[in-house]
Order: sequence, then structure tokens, then C-alpha cells
Amino acid sequence: MRRLILFLILSIFSLGFTEEKLYFPKDFLWGTATSEYQNSGEEGCPNSNWAAWEKCDSHGSSRIAKGDRSKNACAHWENFKEDIALMQKLGVNAYRFSIDWSVIEPKEGSFCMEALLHYKEEIKALKKAGITPMVTLHHYSHPSWFEEMKGFENEENIVFFERFCNFIFSHFKDDVDLWCTFNEPNLYSFTGYAIGRHPPGKQDWNLAATVLKNIFKAHIRIYKNLKSIKPEAKIGIVHNVLKTKSYTNWNPVELIAAKYVSKIVHDTFMEFFKTGIFNCYLPLASNVYYEDKEAPNSLDFVGVNYYSSPLVKMNYLALLTFNFTEVMQSTCFQGEVMSDAPFRLYPEGMYEAIKEVAALKHPIFITENGIADAKDDRRPIFIQRYLENVSKAVKEGFDVRGYFYWTLMDNFEWADGFNIEKYGLYEVDFKTKKRTLRPGAKTYIDIIANWKSQSLNKTADAR
Ligand code: BGC
Repeated sequence: MRRLILFLILSIFSLGFTEEKLYFPKDFLWGTATSEYQNSGEEGCPNSNWAAWEKCDSHGSSRIAKGDRSKNACAHWENFKEDIALMQKLGVNAYRFSIDWSVIEPKEGSFCMEALLHYKEEIKALKKAGITPMVTLHHYSHPSWFEEMKGFENEENIVFFERFCNFIFSHFKDDVDLWCTFNEPNLYSFTGYAIGRHPPGKQDWNLAATVLKNIFKAHIRIYKNLKSIKPEAKIGIVHNVLKTKSYTNWNPVELIAAKYVSKIVHDTFMEFFKTGIFNCYLPLASNVYYEDKEAPNSLDFVGVNYYSSPLVKMNYLALLTFNFTEVMQSTCFQGEVMSDAPFRLYPEGMYEAIKEVAALKHPIFITENGIADAKDDRRPIFIQRYLENVSKAVKEGFDVRGYFYWTLMDNFEWADGFNIEKYGLYEVDFKTKKRTLRPGAKTYIDIIANWKSQSLNKTADAR
């Protein structure tokens, strides 16, 4: 019955859309995106802030949904060669992944050569398979010693991250040309410091804004460092374009909540990289100001993570039962479809996100886009419709250079653990670690294959 209802809704969702002919440039990058901690877990990254966070809180309650622990997650650390073969089956030509700082520098100032060799091997294997590596230097996880010294809360701590990045650049500058400094500083600071769902679990909006500001400062320094070592390398920052909207246009609580979240999560980033002004002023919540006129020129590209434009709705029942953590909910309008995450499917938002970020006047990579869909019944239409919107932007002349589906295989989905959100093109049985291609991944495989044959035809025509 559920499938029938969903089929009807998806048919309505597709009405009015004729399947567009997709167009992507000849040198477009097609990839999947992952992060080390999510793929290798606390056993792969035992010295990470996340490994410390996963242990129960002081009252003995688990911080991860359903009491999950990441353990070795999908055991990617030990199976990276097999996973590269899985990528090849998809037909991708790029892979975005993170080099986890906590693995490279488990103790302050002491660097692990074994881990370095591991990444050397992984990058070599990728390149041998014809897959371009894109490396993220910070994807939510960092060493617990850095967390203990208050991480990016303190501006003076930026030097530690700089030192790690310089170490990585010195070893990989010849192997890697595409770098992302930070994954989603907006969500990192909001989730860890404003709502406290991620480490270090603080709830202080002013601190969240301070962390965001310090991360932007760090980004600029790291950008300059890499460019002085290898000017032709390309380095950017990854921003989650998450613009929350109010469900109604009259409920002041919804209007204010949507505005506050958008300000700290999206507007501040845009303003800073457009003008060099960081101004995160929110009455009674935060007031952080800083200027750096070099910000607009500290990017070779912008990484856009786009999933949805969530609608913020008030949950009156939670209010009546004084369940304040549940008062605001993310929902969808009637006739729309949700993913298994609190995200509505909103493909047009992809085009809107590209158009908006293009105002920063840098090339764009879609560094993440994907759907949590355990039943795999919405994934094909999701991939088709979101990519139609990328293609529409490309056709209109927006400089989009690649698309990375999140994610290669089901993984440890941070505070949601293993059982709620299944983003993988490959389904993972976490007991046996067996990977199975989801039927819904076929849409992605076909789109890449069509693009390849079109590119080949064009090359032949040109001869
Ligand atoms: C993060 C990923 C996460 C994904 C799905 C993104 O914002 O970068 O680490 O798994 O969202 O929740």
C-alpha cells in the first residue's frame, strides 16, 4: 500500500517534467563522495574527536541513535582497493574523500608514517583506475587532543591545523590537484556548537559563530599556503547550501527560526566570500564581526553540497508536552515527497543553489548530493531530477565542473548511526561488510554512460 501511494505521489511529482536531454561538458568530473570517519569508524580513526564523542555521556546515555557505535563502519580502511573497483563499476572518473587528521597526527606533533603510506597507496590506486582524487582536509573529524584544547573555538589553535595541512601538501602535492579545506563549516559549527548534536555538544550560538569565523580564517591561510607551494593546484571550501524556509508565512516562531538558521548556516558564508565581511549578528543569540578583504580571492572553486531547502514547521504537540527539542520540525508541503532524512525532495533547489553560489564568481563543483532512501524507491527520480537541474544550469552557462553523489556505500551517518539514513549507491550489510549495488544506482550509471558516449561522438565528429 505504501509503495502504491508513493508511486502516485512520485507520478504527480514528475508531472509537467518531460525528461530533459542532459548536457554536461566534456571534461566534467563524475564522482562519489565519502569521509574517512564515516567509512572507517572509531576503529579506523581511534584518536578522533568522534571516537571520544561516541562513548556515552556522563549519564550513561548514548549520543548515537539506537545506541549504535561506528566500530569499523564499512571497513573501508582495509578494503579500499575493492571499493575502488566498485567505483569503476559505476563508471565514475573522480572520488572525493577525506584524509583524516586524527589518523595522520594521532598525538600532537607526532605524525604516523604508516597512515601516510596508506593514503599514498589509495591515491595511487585511484589514479591507476583513472579516478581523479579530490581530498578534503577536514570533514567533521579531527584529533581528540585538538578538541581538548578547544579546537577552532580558539583562534590561536589554527596553527595546528595549518601544520597538518602543510604536512599533507608536502607529501601529496604531486599526486593531488583538487583540495577542499573544510567540509561544511556552517553545519560543523551549527550542529556542534549551536544545537549540540555533534561534538563537542555545546549550545551557544555566539560560540558557533566564533568557530565559523575562525574556520574561515583558517581556510584563507591554508589557501595561501598551498598556492605558495603549488600555484596550479585548485583549492576550495565546501559549503552546504541549506536555506531554511518557514512552512507558513504567518507563524512568527517559524519565520524567526527559519531566518536565524539561514543566517548562521548560509547567509554569513555568502556575504563573507562575496565581500570579505563576516557579520553574524542575531539578536539575543550571536554578535560576531570580522573583515578580511582577501576572502573573495581565497577560492579556486566553491564546493556546493546540496540536499534540500528544508521547511521549518512548528510541532504544536511537542509544545503542549513541553518537549522543547522537538518543537521545530523539518517537513514538506502537501504533494511533495520526503527522503528518509528530514529533507523534502526539492530538485529545483539545486539549480537555485548553483545560481546563487555563482555570484561568488568562482567555478563550482557539486561536492555532495544524495538521498537517504533505504527502500530505494525514490533514488532514481531523485538522481534524474537533481541532475536535470545541474544540466539546466550548465546549459545556461554556469561554470559547474563536476558532480559527486553522496555516497558510494551506506556508512556511519554521524548522530543517526547506521539504521536511519541509507545514502549509498551500494547497500552495505554491516555484519558481513558485503556491498550490493542498489537498483536505483542504475540511473546514475546510465547518465554517466550516456555522457561518455556523447563525448566520444563529439570527439569523433571533430576529427
Ligand atoms: C555531510 C555528510 C553527511 C551527509 C548526509 C552532509 O552534510 O557532509 O558527512 O553524511 O550530509 O547527512
